[in-house]
Amino acid sequence: MIHLFSPAKINLFLRVISKRSDGFHNLSSLFQTISLGDTLSMALGSQDELTCSDSRLATDASNLVLKAVALFKQKTSSNAHFKIHLEKHIPIQAGLGGGSSNAATALWGCNQLTNAQIPVEVLQKWSHEIGSDVPFFFSEGTAYCEGRGEIVHSLPSLPERSLWIVKPQGGLSTPEVFRRLNFSHAVSPLVVAEDRNCCKNQTSQYFNDLEKPAFEIRPELLALKMSLMKKDDDVVVMSGSGSSFFCLDKEPILSLKEGFSLFPAHYINRQSPQWYLPYEL
Ligand code: C5P
Repeated sequence: MIHLFSPAKINLFLRVISKRSDGFHNLSSLFQTISLGDTLSMALGSQDELTCSDSRLATDASNLVLKAVALFKQKTSSNAHFKIHLEKHIPIQAGLGGGSSNAATALWGCNQLTNAQIPVEVLQKWSHEIGSDVPFFFSEGTAYCEGRGEIVHSLPSLPERSLWIVKPQGGLSTPEVFRRLNFSHAVSPLVVAEDRNCCKNQTSQYFNDLEKPAFEIRPELLALKMSLMKKDDDVVVMSGSGSSFFCLDKEPILSLKEGFSLFPAHYINRQSPQWYLPYEL
């Protein structure tokens, strides 16, 4: 039995560049893995089997973990079976990439348990078939991502940083948030070049173009953001397609006491060739 940590991600910035003919959107986004995460316990078994600590999650073939297992078996023509338990801590429908991280971690685990020795770059390439955010997790935890998210440019780790994740009750559906985007014209390539420079020079910028459509769907999220921002320079940004926010450096004071979960976290990175490890103080 192996136990693998499966970290959440945040998008330090997320720019939507253009709408594509395949229904997806081209993005320009800086992704970072954080210490909030799930655990995947995996062993070889006599049939593929997934159990989960959170009964709200489907454990059938629709779960991204089992999609990852099916993809691995198809690509490697493997007859192996996997018994997997998912201990869930990453909130669902939160824009934290929980399902994508679980899928990447499952692919890593299948490779390890079968000793197939598929290079990480190949696992990364395969993984975009599962979802746009999955390839990112095969970087070392800091990456600038383009295309629909699957074009991953790995970056050196950012300086250590603490943050808080605020998750209001209720999630947001990623397709619904993208559908609500009112996209009139593509962003200038000069702006995208600036994003790349920003990542290269480790200059900070924090924003998320998906906040606007998310706030249209759930106006109370704008009110939450405002209540979390005590000063103009406080960094409080929605992650991915929401509904969670990350607050950098300072513990947020939640004036409304109920209906939120608060998770302290740090940036983490993996040390290649290892997978991610839980954060240790
Ligand atoms: O790839 P993933 O399964 O995460 O995407 C879920 C949905 O989110 C897509 O079907 C699409 O509607 C939307 N999406 C998008 N542009 C992206 C990523 C996702 O429009 N770059």
